[in-house]
Amino acid sequence: MQKLIVDGGQCLCGELSLQGSKNSALPIMAASLLAEGECVLTGCPKLTDIYSASRILNHTGCRCRFSGNTAVINSESADKSSIPEKMMSEMRSSIIFMGALLGRMGECTVSCPGGCELGPRPIDMHISALKKMGVEINDNYGRIVCRAKGKIHGARISLPFPSVGATENVILCAVKAEGETIINNAAREPEISDLCGFLRACGADISGDGESRIIIRGKTRLHGCEYGIMSDRIAGATYMCMTAATGGELILTNACVNAEESFISVLEQTGCSIYTGKDRIYLKCPRKLKALSERVRTMPHPGFPTDAQAILMAAILKSDGTSVFEENIFDCRYRHTDALIKMGADIQVLGKAAVVKGVSRLYGASVDATDLRGGAAMAVAALAAEGTTEIGSISHIDRGYERIEEAVTRLGGKMRRVSV
Ligand code: EPZ
Repeated sequence: MQKLIVDGGQCLCGELSLQGSKNSALPIMAASLLAEGECVLTGCPKLTDIYSASRILNHTGCRCRFSGNTAVINSESADKSSIPEKMMSEMRSSIIFMGALLGRMGECTVSCPGGCELGPRPIDMHISALKKMGVEINDNYGRIVCRAKGKIHGARISLPFPSVGATENVILCAVKAEGETIINNAAREPEISDLCGFLRACGADISGDGESRIIIRGKTRLHGCEYGIMSDRIAGATYMCMTAATGGELILTNACVNAEESFISVLEQTGCSIYTGKDRIYLKCPRKLKALSERVRTMPHPGFPTDAQAILMAAILKSDGTSVFEENIFDCRYRHTDALIKMGADIQVLGKAAVVKGVSRLYGASVDATDLRGGAAMAVAALAAEGTTEIGSISHIDRGYERIEEAVTRLGGKMRRVSV
């Protein structure tokens, strides 16, 4: 078991090149099942979830290997359409293999996915959309058995909510289906556009991604390609929050500037100066942040991202005044607040809302990561705290951040990993 030990009080200053996006790389790895030939994915972050995806690919008969941040996937010999329950339970994104396997083999057997505990995470929208495309889906004692009645065909699908995963699953199934699929109320997250960019590089016919209506015309064959994964906007937001919490100065390179916009405009309310270039973000923070002047409401993209709620909350714990958050995407995404309170924060959770009153000091404590972004929030708070914080259960953090302690150390922070 490993822990992160953080000695707070250092100002984070320097330049950091951002890692590739986990939430882009995972569906793109699944999508490589659909391409006949070799896919070379550059900028693939080295994360436990990425290795879980590669184990699933290898299980299906693909050959997936890594060289640094490049993944090389050859799916020519893929022939297994059933994913064992244990592999499915390792991460939420395993569910994306449902659409990819259906697109490739016309059938699959999966089970409910694992991933962060953020409240109920049903897959009803995935299932009803795929059924519309001619897939028969049965729940066999927890195993979800999917089989096409005849050929999988295009359909007109209106999602009740712009779910990221359901949009991805429909796209993956539709790119090789017969005819045209239209997704109304599709998710508009940048990672969806990255997935579509990859599929287009493989020869797929997709338009409208980044907007609410995506049109996919099925192709009988897709080919391999070389593709660069976009950088991770939430990792970017996390390092910005660490810098803001410690009154530092940061240059982020390899940044997806457009994708960070909604986060940046909220962070600016705290008095930070932020300048952007083509692929870089410059951030200069005051010694004391101002409280957020407007209520932060998490919303589907282009709204404020739910994945940045906990880390922003951690950054403003010592701000001047009161800030209010409203979590609208997940039912249970304030689990990190107990640990922050233990470190001296003043937070009151009232249903969907969390009210944060700035305190003058935070103190090191022994805490456990509750989920990926909640764990990252504890790391943000620990850097701004007096004394030493020990963060346990860091496997959650390792699912999304490539060697977080090395990035922090490079910026002058004191964070180290120890085995216990
Ligand atoms: C993706 O999860 C991300 N994960 C999450 O990232 C992110 O928080 C989330 O999108 C929202 O942006 C990956 O990309 C791997 P959803 P996903 O389907 O696809 C409900 C991180 O920290 N819903 O858009 O699971 C659902 O319960 C994470 O990196 C249904 O009710 O998100 C939730 O309340 C964690 N039925 C809401 O929709 C369904 O069939 C949004 O979920 C599907 C979803």
